[in-house]
Amino acid sequence: MAIRFIENDKRIFRLDTDDSTYLIGICREGYLGHIYYGDRLYGEVDDYLLRTEEAPYTPSINKRDKIAFLDSFPMEFSTGGIGDFRESCLKVRNEGGNSGCELFFHSYNIYKGKKKLEGLPASFGNENEVDTLEIVCEDSVLKLRVILSYSVFEKENVITRSVRLENKGNEKLKIEKVYSACLDMDNQDFEMISLCGSWERERHIQRVPLHYGKQLVSSIRGESSHQEHPFLALATKETTQTQGRIYGMHFVYSGNFIAQAELTPYDSIRAVIGINSEEFSWNLHPGESFQAPEAVMVYSGDGIGKMTRSYHTFYRKHLIRSPYKNKMRPILINNWEATFFDFDSEKLLSIAKEAKKYGIEMLVMDDGWFGKRNNDNCSLGDWIVNTDKITGGLKKLADDVNKIGLKFGIWFEPEMISPDSDLYRKHPDWAIAIKGREAALSRQQYVLDLSRSEIRDYIYEAVASILRSANIFYVKWDMNRQLSDLGSSYLDAESQQELFHRYVLGVYELQERLLTEFPYLLLENCSGGGARFDPGMLYYSPQIWCSDDSDAIERLAIQEGTALIYPLSVIGAHVSDCPSHSVGRITPFETRGHVALAGSFGYELDITKIPKEDREQIPNQVELYHKYNDLIREGDYYRIASYRENHLYDCWSVVSEEKEEVLVTYVQVLARPNQRSRRILLQGLKTESYYWLEGTDEIYTGEMLMNAGFLIKGLLGDFRSRLYHFLEKK
Ligand code: GLA
Repeated sequence: MAIRFIENDKRIFRLDTDDSTYLIGICREGYLGHIYYGDRLYGEVDDYLLRTEEAPYTPSINKRDKIAFLDSFPMEFSTGGIGDFRESCLKVRNEGGNSGCELFFHSYNIYKGKKKLEGLPASFGNENEVDTLEIVCEDSVLKLRVILSYSVFEKENVITRSVRLENKGNEKLKIEKVYSACLDMDNQDFEMISLCGSWERERHIQRVPLHYGKQLVSSIRGESSHQEHPFLALATKETTQTQGRIYGMHFVYSGNFIAQAELTPYDSIRAVIGINSEEFSWNLHPGESFQAPEAVMVYSGDGIGKMTRSYHTFYRKHLIRSPYKNKMRPILINNWEATFFDFDSEKLLSIAKEAKKYGIEMLVMDDGWFGKRNNDNCSLGDWIVNTDKITGGLKKLADDVNKIGLKFGIWFEPEMISPDSDLYRKHPDWAIAIKGREAALSRQQYVLDLSRSEIRDYIYEAVASILRSANIFYVKWDMNRQLSDLGSSYLDAESQQELFHRYVLGVYELQERLLTEFPYLLLENCSGGGARFDPGMLYYSPQIWCSDDSDAIERLAIQEGTALIYPLSVIGAHVSDCPSHSVGRITPFETRGHVALAGSFGYELDITKIPKEDREQIPNQVELYHKYNDLIREGDYYRIASYRENHLYDCWSVVSEEKEEVLVTYVQVLARPNQRSRRILLQGLKTESYYWLEGTDEIYTGEMLMNAGFLIKGLLGDFRSRLYHFLEKK
């Protein structure tokens, strides 16, 4: 068992993964305190770090001063209103209008395996893979039970956490805040790593020293967002890819979030992650319970790279469910950047025919096939095939594409409604809006109120009936605006603040239903590029469109940030045409291919129109994809150099589990005079083995490659790239 309760004169919960240990203590008053999280401990453990015998102490009353004590005690799950003035994880208001909350240990339960989280995406594992601890705490005034769950995935060095609230009394309670995880530690000269950006510039890595007070990333946009990401890591200052201590917290949720680190006057840290409490509240009637989403925590004592690989392996094995997660996915060609709204069956078939000649395996028909949608100002909600464009209907198109030898995929944006749509004319109250206030349009559309079951049913049937009508292998589920003007004509005044969360639950329910009826559907989530690229969506789709910016050089920072915590297999990456739609840059077709190979590969261009010399490179890229995809999908990822940091070049590698095969991708962003070679230090090889660089007669020792380095030679020009494939010589 990875979890033990040690009960002698102390009471300590001990959670061990292969390389980390997590300790929770129960102090004499019954508060749960956080003792330790860090490198694996093997011997006996103690709780002296709770400092329960230390000041603050008030001599006049000869006992501990509660406020001073609570203001510095390392709480396992903090609550507000009773003297801990740091960030609280829980705020619950009673019928009397008061919000103080104080949790005391009640009982615990340890078991093998892990339960599902009702209505929410969450990690999973069988009885040999994961153990779970549930600590039950109680507030006797509120008659509130709080169940803190910890699931320990030993091999992956992951501890997941979630929280469930149960109203055991006779009064209605209002939850005004409930986070999913809290980590109180002494400061170790930490820096905070987060992922920030905007549309077409998602998930750039940001690393800053902590200052006193609170620093946070968050979203109140109704989705995890382009702008910030539900992730936070604390790394000691000296931490690099290969050394140093780092703590990661990642949130399995697709709506509003907060991830915050607070440096206190006593040099302790409180890191929290959970649903953003802004515009959130939830009515908890007697007998009801509320499940908060899951947070995934990783500690690495061996640098950022090890944390990265823990997240990658964990998501691949214990979060993504799709039958395609361990399979090579068909190389797709998507018509969006090729045609935008200007297409018909004939055009699509001409793309499909040409694509087939060059080895592409699936055609995806993007936005514009339904209603009267010839631009983005109408028809969302009217999921009726436009037979003026799709002549003969969808089944015929899918069959014709299949006859050419390609699979067929289709785009939807099910959560939206255009004011110019039959659906809106019939049901204007289905859009999210505040009564008496004109709701803001974004991309000329409103958002459907997914808290209503009849709307969810309508959407479901709209999508499912299309899928039933033709041979559709793949769906791109898009979501192209963020939520504003939060108001529901269905929820009562007391429940309006439940809308943000109910919306997310609605999305999850819809995708769950879809995958239940169509278990072999290859689903790709998308949100104006990568605004809903989060672990919540990964539970439903094994790949997510990473960014609308597919310029190969822009993608370096976007994919580096994304791969900090996500396996390459989930990162939607396509080769697109030049000059880039996003930045006007011209990059070699070869480089675009090399960068897109580090993801779920495809094309986003008009293959009938691109230059012949580019088109002729496609069969080679298809071959590279077939040759390397198993390795890229399943292998261990190592970040070797970052263009974001050095402003000159980027480099990463993927190493097979047995360390017999290595693929290195090198991108020279800017060339320098008189510097035609550059040394890079590989990682993750076997020191004592010999490695052959395929296609050459060069043989290196793993030790030399990792310590002395490999020499990149003879690369002249900007935006140039190379792949190097090494095989262990037996
Ligand atoms: C979003 C997506 C694009 C494309 C368009 C269609 O921007 O990210 O890939 O599907 O919508 O409107």
